[in-house]
Amino acid sequence: MIAGKGGTGKTTIAACLSFLLADMGYNVIALDTDSVPNLALSLGIPRDIAEKIVPLAQNEELVEERTGARPGSGWGVLFSLTPRVDDIADKYGIRVRDNLKLVVVGSIDASKQGCLCPAIALARHFLRHTLMSPRDIVVVDAEAGAEVFGRGLAEYFDFMFCICEPTVKSILIGMKLVRLARELNVKNNVIVVNKVRSVFDAERMCDKIVGDSIPWHIIRYDDNVVRAEMEGYGLDKIPRDSVIFLDLKTLIKRFMPWLIK
Ligand SMILES: Nc1ncnc2c1ncn2[C@@H]1O[C@H](COP(=O)(O)OP(=O)(O)OP(=O)(O)O)[C@@H](O)[C@H]1O
Ligand SMILES: [Mg+2]
Repeated sequence: MIAGKGGTGKTTIAACLSFLLADMGYNVIALDTDSVPNLALSLGIPRDIAEKIVPLAQNEELVEERTGARPGSGWGVLFSLTPRVDDIADKYGIRVRDNLKLVVVGSIDASKQGCLCPAIALARHFLRHTLMSPRDIVVVDAEAGAEVFGRGLAEYFDFMFCICEPTVKSILIGMKLVRLARELNVKNNVIVVNKVRSVFDAERMCDKIVGDSIPWHIIRYDDNVVRAEMEGYGLDKIPRDSVIFLDLKTLIKRFMPWLIK
């Protein structure tokens, strides 16, 4: 799970990490749970296709078909809490590469969606099911604030990478999020300080504020990311020896060494 406050780089890192893991030969499912989804563009899906994607939680027909209730019908009707979800990634996933798929889930935050209770039930059930998949690595771009921490989901994540800006304030917020995640039994939590221009200064700051209470990792500011954003192309076009990929490779090596064969 890639979480953190708005604008810190969650989507960028979720996309780059997905590409690296796919490069390594893993089956990767990237899930976008933002209420304003935009992981598709970072994954290089053309704009005309990206704009037509209907998030699962807003796909009224699917929600009705699977739960037996129409979105908006509220809690007053009966609907299935265990709808069929095992075929959703295949049917509604967008293929980025043979071994990399995107599913736009949409927000699973009831307060943000209005009363779309059956839709949220479906989205959460799908998320839980996907996270348990033994054959895929699931990368979740989680909305700022992170409802993925909601009951019954947090414990399915092996890792939370909490993305922060290289500022004291941002890191303190990140540490709060990690404490919350720990309480909810997210197994491994890492503070990822992104967009770092001076590694020396950032390390000093992390040493002082985080110390060894939470593992932390630094990702440097990368002009190639900015260029990709400005030109509107996917982040896979960035050379693999660009700093964002180098620093993410180090992150994999440090925290998930078993993935390197
Ligand atoms: N390592 C980096 N180097 C340079 N720019 C970066 C880096 N990481 C992210 N950015 C830039 O920071 C901005 C915010 O990134 P991104 O959209 O990934 O953040 P986010 O946390 O997903 O935001 P939101 O909360 O709005 O979804 C983008 O313009 C992105 O290009
Ligand atoms: Mg984002």
